[in-house]
Amino acid sequence: MKLPFFLAKRFVAGESFDQAIPKVEQINSKGIHVTLDLLGENVDDRATADDTVRSYIKLLNDINEAGLDSTISIKLTMLGLDIDREYCRNNLFELLDTARETDQFVRIDMEGSDYTQPTIDLFKEAHNEYGSHVGIVLQAYLYRTEQDVAELAEMGADVRMCKGAYSEPKDIALQKMDDIRQAFKQYTKVLLEKTPYPRIATHDDELIDWVQGYVDQKNISPDNFEFQMLYGLRQQTMEDFVANGYNARIYVPFGTMWFPYFKRRLMERKENIWFVLSTLFQK
Ligand code: FDA
Repeated sequence: MKLPFFLAKRFVAGESFDQAIPKVEQINSKGIHVTLDLLGENVDDRATADDTVRSYIKLLNDINEAGLDSTISIKLTMLGLDIDREYCRNNLFELLDTARETDQFVRIDMEGSDYTQPTIDLFKEAHNEYGSHVGIVLQAYLYRTEQDVAELAEMGADVRMCKGAYSEPKDIALQKMDDIRQAFKQYTKVLLEKTPYPRIATHDDELIDWVQGYVDQKNISPDNFEFQMLYGLRQQTMEDFVANGYNARIYVPFGTMWFPYFKRRLMERKENIWFVLSTLFQK
């Protein structure tokens, strides 16, 4: 059974690019950058993965034509990572050819831990070929991130740091919020020190306050990093960031395959469930 879209509209900008455009324009008008995510994951047939490559390429061209200030975020499982690694690599490189031609940027989102190693491997290959047109995400809750962040920082990679959104077992991932916050701070320090422009993705005031204090103390210019948040959450905070001289970017998902993304948002914060319930009463 497919749930009606209005349930997800707090977190998802529309079921099509055209529906998302006015939302992106509204965000851009506040001086906030965007990254658009055409929703979907775990494609298991080549025809769908081929279609997805074409859709992503079209999205890059449409963003330029619409004059939006937006990059894109993608998932390798939508480009065929579950089907065949080389096939996925070719799809990624085809997309990045367009990104380079149109002077655009593609962020590879990080998925569940089964995909961490292949995602990092493919990112490294892509980074060697496409440099600043491609970036990756690291998740603070994974133990392995300590090594990954050191290695990727040494390469000068463009990294988004987040806590991690998937349910991971305790032998590979921190489970307590305090420990995850500590790890997040430790890795963010490395990124701020060694990479050109880290992306700090969190809605957590404890982490935001810490970042602001740390960059002040170390005299790191606000031009050297950005805060990122998800569509539908804390836009006023993002507007305040811009007013105070920080760079800010909102991750704007859209598309018909919104359910897994929507479910992750509900699972991570009980207030998000209340937002959805209140939508029901507004109908
Ligand atoms: P969390 O939900 O842990 O909340 C901590 C505290 O922050 C709360 O107790 C509250 O005080 C405050 N807070 C949170 N939300 C709030 C709100 N709406 N209003 C007011 N206060 C609030 N994950 C992944 O695995 N792979 C990925 O590629 C990405 N990509 C990504 C991009 C972007 C731009 C963001 C912001 C996040 C991701 N994530 C992700 C998701 C990420 O890993 C994580 O699951 C969520 O951001 C939730 O963690 P937070 O640190 O944001 O707050």
